[in-house]
Amino acid sequence: MNTALAIVGIVIGVVAFAAAQDDLQCIENPTGEVSLNVAVRGIPGQQGPQGIKGDIGSRGQKGQNGDIGVQGTEGKQGVVGPGGPVGAKGEVGQQGVRGMKGSSGPIGPKGIVGSHGRQGDIGATGPRGNPGRAGFPGPKGLLGSPGDLLDSAQIQSLTETVVSSTAPKIQATVMQSITEVEAKVKVLNQALREEVMIELQALKDSIGSLEIVESKKCGIVGPWRRVAHFDTTNNDTCPPVLQTVLNPTTGQKACGRRASTLGCDLWQVPSKGLYTSVCGKARGYQSGNTLAFFPYHFPTYNQKTLNSSYVNGISITSGNLGRHIWTFAVGRTELVTGTSADAMCPCALNPPQTSPPPFIGDNYYCESGLRNRIVFRTAWEDVLWDGQGCFTAGNTCCARSGWFHRQLSPSSDGIQVRWCGYAGAATTDIPTDLVEIWVM
Ligand SMILES: *[C@@H]1O[C@H](CO)[C@@H](O)[C@H](O)[C@H]1NC(C)=O
Ligand SMILES: *[C@@H]1O[C@H](CO)[C@@H](O)[C@H](O)[C@H]1NC(C)=O
Repeated sequence: MNTALAIVGIVIGVVAFAAAQDDLQCIENPTGEVSLNVAVRGIPGQQGPQGIKGDIGSRGQKGQNGDIGVQGTEGKQGVVGPGGPVGAKGEVGQQGVRGMKGSSGPIGPKGIVGSHGRQGDIGATGPRGNPGRAGFPGPKGLLGSPGDLLDSAQIQSLTETVVSSTAPKIQATVMQSITEVEAKVKVLNQALREEVMIELQALKDSIGSLEIVESKKCGIVGPWRRVAHFDTTNNDTCPPVLQTVLNPTTGQKACGRRASTLGCDLWQVPSKGLYTSVCGKARGYQSGNTLAFFPYHFPTYNQKTLNSSYVNGISITSGNLGRHIWTFAVGRTELVTGTSADAMCPCALNPPQTSPPPFIGDNYYCESGLRNRIVFRTAWEDVLWDGQGCFTAGNTCCARSGWFHRQLSPSSDGIQVRWCGYAGAATTDIPTDLVEIWVM
């Protein structure tokens, strides 16, 4: 501390002291300057030694907070943090409040007609009405069960009686009517009368010469129905189960098997009603190896039942192969020539060692086209089952031939015609140019 300052300090202390001693006294100066007169009283001595340092004073009161600093600029956005784990499923919320009543829907479709109500009570009996008009005739009754079978002779005689007694009566009635018309026509004018008379005369002539045609099959007259028929000599086509085969020399057509192995080609025809008689015929030709009933006899082939390929030939059955009607068999040759007797017709010569299957009995024809030499060809020159072309003495196959006829218990079963062989058509065939089956 320099001396001047020390003096000023002292003076200030004096003034302050004086101010405290006197009554309140203001120092006022518009310039803010104060001028003092100081009288120095002595020369200060040398500075004494430094005193002992006093105790540290108590800490001053805390100053006021400073003003808030200026706000810094905004930091950059942080990177997106990883997703948190899936939260636990919340509890089922409370059922919502019942909705408001909807507006009414459109009018529904018309309902179905209700069932009849209960029948009302029976009313009181009314007065008796007038008699009604005669009713229409009732419906035709059901077909009765068939009566006892007539034998063929009875049927024939009956039919002939009916035809011979009825036909003249019909003829007479028509003639009588024509005569009556003639009498009436006489009153017509000349030109018209002549015209009508000519017409009537022509009618009389045709009625008078009318032949009442009897349908006569297998020697029996009756209402025969034809259920199966084709005749390729008359340009008919083959049943689809067969194929057309041609005689290369003459162009003659016939129907042959399609089978490529042991078995039969089946032609099924409906019977169109009840029948107790079957009458029919077939015309065929031997082709290749035809072995009669060998497929039935030879164990390897083992064709032991009616529904099998038991024959080389044509098998006719009814009722889904259940009932035998007739069999047309074709033997290998007219006599045994170093081949199994079972491949021959039972009627072939030398000796007839073989027999037909028991389920066909005698209801078959059997013939061969070849005489005594086994040749692989079609024997077009010898029609089978026609009673002709059995040249070998002792061969009796031509004794039974032509139309077959069977009388059976009543049935309306369909009829099956099968062309059968022990092998395919290339090996064994029966080209057939006519089949005709009638039932009654
Ligand atoms: C058979 O058919 C052939 C060819 O279709 C024809 O030329 C012939 O005139 C026919 N014969 C008969 C009799 O209809
Ligand atoms: C053939 O007939 C026999 C009885 O003779 C029968 O056991 C068999 O089931 C029949 N087969 C066919 C395919 O109809």
